[in-house]
Amino acid sequence: METKKAKMIIEKDFAIAEIDPRLYGSFVEHLGRCVYGGIYEPTHSLSSQQGFRLDVIELVKELQVPLVRYPGGNFVSGYNWEDGVGPVEDRPKRLDLAWRTTEPNYIGTNEFMDWAKLVNAEVNMAVNLGTRGIDAARNLVEYCNHPGGSYYSDLRAAHGYKEAHKIKTWCLGNEMDGPWQIGHKTAAEYGRLAAETAKAMKWVDPTIELVACGSSHRSMPTFGEWEATVLDHTYDHVEFISLHTYYGNRDNDTANYLARSLDMDDFIKSVTATADYVKAKKRSKKTINLSFDEWNVWYHSNESDKQIEPWSVAPPQLEDLYNFEDALLVGSMLITMLKHADRVKIACLAQLVNVIAPIMTEENGAAWKQTIFYPFMHVSVFGRGLALNPIISSQKYDSKDFTDVPYLESTAVFNEEKEELTIFAVNRSLEMGLSFECDIRNFEGYEVVEHIVLENNNVKSTNSSTKQNVRPHTNGNASVSEGTITAVMPTCSWNVIRLCRKNNH
Ligand code: AHR
Repeated sequence: METKKAKMIIEKDFAIAEIDPRLYGSFVEHLGRCVYGGIYEPTHSLSSQQGFRLDVIELVKELQVPLVRYPGGNFVSGYNWEDGVGPVEDRPKRLDLAWRTTEPNYIGTNEFMDWAKLVNAEVNMAVNLGTRGIDAARNLVEYCNHPGGSYYSDLRAAHGYKEAHKIKTWCLGNEMDGPWQIGHKTAAEYGRLAAETAKAMKWVDPTIELVACGSSHRSMPTFGEWEATVLDHTYDHVEFISLHTYYGNRDNDTANYLARSLDMDDFIKSVTATADYVKAKKRSKKTINLSFDEWNVWYHSNESDKQIEPWSVAPPQLEDLYNFEDALLVGSMLITMLKHADRVKIACLAQLVNVIAPIMTEENGAAWKQTIFYPFMHVSVFGRGLALNPIISSQKYDSKDFTDVPYLESTAVFNEEKEELTIFAVNRSLEMGLSFECDIRNFEGYEVVEHIVLENNNVKSTNSSTKQNVRPHTNGNASVSEGTITAVMPTCSWNVIRLCRKNNH
């Protein structure tokens, strides 16, 4: 049987960085059926007293998401956080200009914090720097994080939340470089506002960490210049600069589509270089890290979204139905971020439920797993510890937009405490299996626990509430002999090879 070939060497001491668990974050926006009909559906038979769907909570827990960005997204640029606190019956219904829907405000800051606790996640809270600014942002930090004895912290207590929420990670607005954004700004306008807002927020709570908006995507005309200018203004006041990217297979060219993670790799390198350029200019000792706080595949729903009735409440927007090739790309994107774990410390899969999401729900019906659920779950569950820096040599191909695309996209994570080594890999070949050989030289006594494979003979195969056509099996053939792993990764497949020190599993 003809196969593609790839080799890898893994050394325990060749490490990139300890992985920040926030790399496996996700995102819940007041958009479509993400909140209403997604995490919250009070009339569902499986909902809690507070109206949260327990079946959804179980699936989110399976993903082990440690951080959830909230409440937007484009939504946050027109959001008054005060509308979402206090007695629900007094909350206003507002027009959301970002998505042309009506926001009923049944769920706001406190309810979302309750939900996040139920899924064991922290919240990455975004403030509105579109229609609002310093005052609303610092008041929200006071409302959420100040222990008590001030107007907003006492208001929180009056709303039934005596304990402060202690939110650590905050976003200074969202995609402020985009003309579609309510309150869109130039880099200089945003940079100044973000710096002054950051100062005030940190004067309220010096323990918080802040993310400044980078470009909405790499092909924005202002990309590069935007990051440099924004960081010029904000460098001393923030910890992170954000990156966003969404891919799609619009011209139905799978070989090219599966190579899109190389674009993500370049994107990360460019933003890192820009942040370090500002560091050099400022002769600063501080390093700015990256928050990839929106990433995913998004294109399937573009056409149907044009049919949405304006000003409806929670219509089915951005409900991409993901197929098998999307799962492979999502896997490659996760591997790409692991390769930059020294600088990408936060990442949020956008989004979590119904809206470009790994989890889907039916009204009064089932909650189910999309194809992309699986690679995300595998990396989140098994990708904790030290990101290693394997040496890889693989046969390559050229596609429409990329040259030298390796058939093997792979990396490894070492969990020293659990004595577990995990290899994540995609075989991009659409024609044949890939013979994989991996030298694990100084991992003596490690043996294969399982070789998980996600494969399908139809790259367009999808899942539904009644059928999981795309789901992993554990019949991969990886084995170890004399310090070398060998395996054949099936044609076009996602692979997780889990090893553990003998007698430890
Ligand atoms: O995640 C969907 C949208 O994509 C977000 O609201 C926005 O920030 C981005 O353009």
